[in-house]
Amino acid sequence: MIYENPIMPHAAAPLQIGTLEVWPPVVLAPMSGVTNRTLRALYKPFGFGLTVTEFVSSNALQHGSERTMEMIDQHGVEKPVATQLWGSDPALMARAARLVRECGADIVDINFGCPAPKVTKTEGGSACLRDVARCEAIMRAVVNAVDCPVTVKMRLGWSEDTLVYREVAQRAQSVGVVALTLHARTAKQFYKGSADWAHIAALKASVDIPVIGNGDLSDPHDALRRMQESGVDGIMLGRAVLGNPWLVGGVRDLMEGRPARELPAAAERLRYSMHHYRTMVDEWGEARAVPQMRKHLGYYLKGFSGASELRERLMRTPTAAETLEAVAATIERLESCETLAA
Ligand SMILES: Cc1cc2nc3c(=O)[nH]c(=O)nc-3n(C[C@H](O)[C@H](O)[C@H](O)COP(=O)(O)O)c2cc1C
Repeated sequence: MIYENPIMPHAAAPLQIGTLEVWPPVVLAPMSGVTNRTLRALYKPFGFGLTVTEFVSSNALQHGSERTMEMIDQHGVEKPVATQLWGSDPALMARAARLVRECGADIVDINFGCPAPKVTKTEGGSACLRDVARCEAIMRAVVNAVDCPVTVKMRLGWSEDTLVYREVAQRAQSVGVVALTLHARTAKQFYKGSADWAHIAALKASVDIPVIGNGDLSDPHDALRRMQESGVDGIMLGRAVLGNPWLVGGVRDLMEGRPARELPAAAERLRYSMHHYRTMVDEWGEARAVPQMRKHLGYYLKGFSGASELRERLMRTPTAAETLEAVAATIERLESCETLAA
């Protein structure tokens, strides 16, 4: 799929989600406990066209606790934002969709993908794929409840012998869902094995609405190749951008006809991690930011030779000030070309 722009040759076309035009056609994957408003706002400017909230329980939204409402909150700079809902009851999902739309969702996304037992034991997430009629009832109820585009993110099926994604996609299209994201694994696979992009290509060939491919993209050239080979309208990046938001900049470069930018030097990456850290502390307070930022610092430190000792130490450091001091000292050492202790 080559989109010719007379001014600058683009290697992709904008992603059309209902009335919304998304450029570039690259979506930040919803990640529970990770893609809160702060992370979405920090990472969007690196080159995402669309961001998605963490999944939110349609049931919890009926009670509207502070923690639940935080999950659907937006900064504004990360717009457009798709708010993702999960649940098994069509009426509750419709009510939740109306609520998140009133709270600023540009898109309502339905989760038919989460394989976590705490979700599937209540028939939510990927468990919906065990009953395609219920998937259809949920999608119809949500589409009828809101005046914005409704999308679906799903896995291939519950298990290898029940790959229902094409059937769910047909039903989605027939009730007015305007785009689909496929994470090309089954629920039973969790994150094992590899995402099978042949299924993503098969989905694209079977529907008229836009398809976003997802699973295991971690390199700009590979991402663009997979997008073009499968014919999808957009791609979604998840784990690989954690600690490496520059990845999406590289994808965007290629899509806009430039060479993909290089990953910045280690010291610059760590300097950005300090900005991420301070922003989290400012917005969530130290008590909540410190434990959350441990995992993020781990991501930023991935691939540094000899960073394991620092990572270990940061996991135990109790305060933001001490953590930032340790990171700053590491940057200084890196800049003076001293090798980190292994
Ligand atoms: C920590 C974590 C949390 C996730 N939470 C969600 C979620 O809330 N909703 C959802 O649809 N997918 C969720 N996913 C799945 C991702 O959106 C994505 O489909 C998956 O990670 C595959 O893409 P990747 O290989 O680019 O990471 C989560 C994944 C991870 C690693």
